[in-house]
Amino acid sequence: MDDAGADGRHAGGTSGDDRAIDPPEAFRESAAVADPDVYDSFAADWPDAWRVAADLLEWDRYPETVLDDDDPPFYEWFPDGRLNAAANCLDRHLAERRNQLAIRWFGKRGERRSYTYADLHREVNAAAAGLRELGVGEDDVVTIYLPMVPELPVAMLACARIGAPHNVVFAGLSAEALATRIDAADSAYLITCDGYYRREDAFNQKSRADNARIRADADLEATVVVDRLGDALETPLGADEHDYGSLVDAHDGETVEPVARDATDLLFVMYTSGTTGRPKGVEHATGGYLAHVAWTTRNVLDVRPDDTYWCAADIGWITGHSYGVYGPLSVGTTTVLYEGSPDYPDRDRVWDLIERNAVSVFYTSPTAIRSFMKWGAEYPAAHDLSSIRLLGTVGESITPKAWRWYREHVGGGDAPVVDTWWQTETGAITLATLPGVTPMKPGKVGPPLPGVDARVVDRDGDPVEPGETGYLTIASPWPGMLRGLREGDERYRREYWIEGEDGWRYRTGDGATVDEDGYVTILGRVDDVINVRAHRFNTAELESAIVSVDGVTEAAVVGDDDGGVVAYVTTRSDVEPDAGLREAITTAVAGVVAEVARPDRIVFTPDLPKTRSGKIMRRLLEDIARGEEFGDVSALRNPEVVGEIESTVREE
Ligand code: WTA
Repeated sequence: MDDAGADGRHAGGTSGDDRAIDPPEAFRESAAVADPDVYDSFAADWPDAWRVAADLLEWDRYPETVLDDDDPPFYEWFPDGRLNAAANCLDRHLAERRNQLAIRWFGKRGERRSYTYADLHREVNAAAAGLRELGVGEDDVVTIYLPMVPELPVAMLACARIGAPHNVVFAGLSAEALATRIDAADSAYLITCDGYYRREDAFNQKSRADNARIRADADLEATVVVDRLGDALETPLGADEHDYGSLVDAHDGETVEPVARDATDLLFVMYTSGTTGRPKGVEHATGGYLAHVAWTTRNVLDVRPDDTYWCAADIGWITGHSYGVYGPLSVGTTTVLYEGSPDYPDRDRVWDLIERNAVSVFYTSPTAIRSFMKWGAEYPAAHDLSSIRLLGTVGESITPKAWRWYREHVGGGDAPVVDTWWQTETGAITLATLPGVTPMKPGKVGPPLPGVDARVVDRDGDPVEPGETGYLTIASPWPGMLRGLREGDERYRREYWIEGEDGWRYRTGDGATVDEDGYVTILGRVDDVINVRAHRFNTAELESAIVSVDGVTEAAVVGDDDGGVVAYVTTRSDVEPDAGLREAITTAVAGVVAEVARPDRIVFTPDLPKTRSGKIMRRLLEDIARGEEFGDVSALRNPEVVGEIESTVREE
């Protein structure tokens, strides 16, 4: 494994507080899973036990086989099943709840739009017919570059309906990032918009998309443009560009028969950061993914059709795919979609939306929770949050303090808080407590879900003793797992799998510890991935943007305690590291990678700490950024630079 190693440096942060909190009695009574035997029964009947997840779906051909593991690590879940994901999210709900709200959308300018299941079904059909008219066929990859507007889930479901895999690119990513993803996914169709609001200003997304088209090698067959801003932005359409509204109007009322897909057929590709600077195209199969997502939405987040549920993550990343779109719609609940920021127009916006919609299940990230804490408990206190039944968190470790704050000030002191660990690659939640069964330990994710064989192991693949640090791995396949990488089988195998004596193990890239009760504490990435405000990037992606600035010679980026980025930068000797250079660096990161990835702090330093083999000691830099103790530096090639960096950081 990567020699960056899991050395337990954050282990002290969450230990020493192992008091387990039982699931609240009132919650347990109506919980989706209330029988603790679920763990044993999954273990006794694995993999067939996962059939319960398949049974949450409607199949065109019901799968006889649960798992084909003949050719590891290429696993196939429900391989002989056939289904359509959009039909599972829409059509099958119509008989019972055509007039129930599916999506309640809140725009940045205070706009509101609601879609019943019937409305959503109608628009998805019209959009699917429109895409077909433009030439999109089964297995054609459609790239979607949209902010949090209802047209985003509509476009995803329209693609799913006709068996065209979607490739959603987070709307905040740069033109260059979009171009790379269009090319890498071999996509000939793009759905974007004229622009969107950032605070008060209209931002021109279309010009960024145009830029990407110029940079991309691919010639796009057609581009569909959603009119988000009305008259606020003039964006004339070219000959191969189509107005979304006119396209949907032209096909309004048409029915497009959902295409029955093999369970192993591609539902979507999602580019994410891995061990190299180039993003990887993670491929998710239709059947296993949807089954796992539906099962966890129902049984981990405990979402029911009569809930109003809100996953605050952007649909442009995996959390929004699984728990903002496919999860809630496959279980038939009402979901909130919010375009704005949590502090606009005021810092109580989130609580206002929860109160207004009587949200019962709320799912967000520790980054957001930290902001809420900083802003103060008076904001949630000013709202009636009594509708909350369950709280979820995802994306990074949550401290016991933040966990307790969340439960007390948002969860009324007694709602279960479910800390869910998973990744783009796992597709759905893989480690978490079951809220009606498993006691919670603040700061610890919890045990693996039933049917998930996660283990914390040492370099040799042997389980570590409780309290010792190791690598989080998964020793058997699970339904939501990626089916492969766009970059091919070899890259997939190399990137994720290790063959051991007892079979193939998936490596997550996370360091972890485990306690006597099997509760896992995540220590963070042991590879070159960096989580920035719950967005995932590769360190090299950010660093190469920084060194593209004239005058910069080297850069190393690390995460800080607030989910932000600190960039350590060296410059050419004739260059003055001044405000202008700082500005150039942040602009470069925003332009090449994304606005959200802009460094929060830039530390100019004469040199970067390196090992004798020339490897930058990112871990040391991270400890300095977080103000933590760090170990002996005498083995470095240039130990003298450490003191200098530390005093620069402290002075700032
Ligand atoms: C981190 C997001 C601690 C982890 C769903 C993982 C977490 C990476 C947790 C995946 C958690 C996710 N506690 N760390 N509950 N959940 N992570 O692909 O490092 O954007 O490997 O998927 O986020 O990020 P990704």
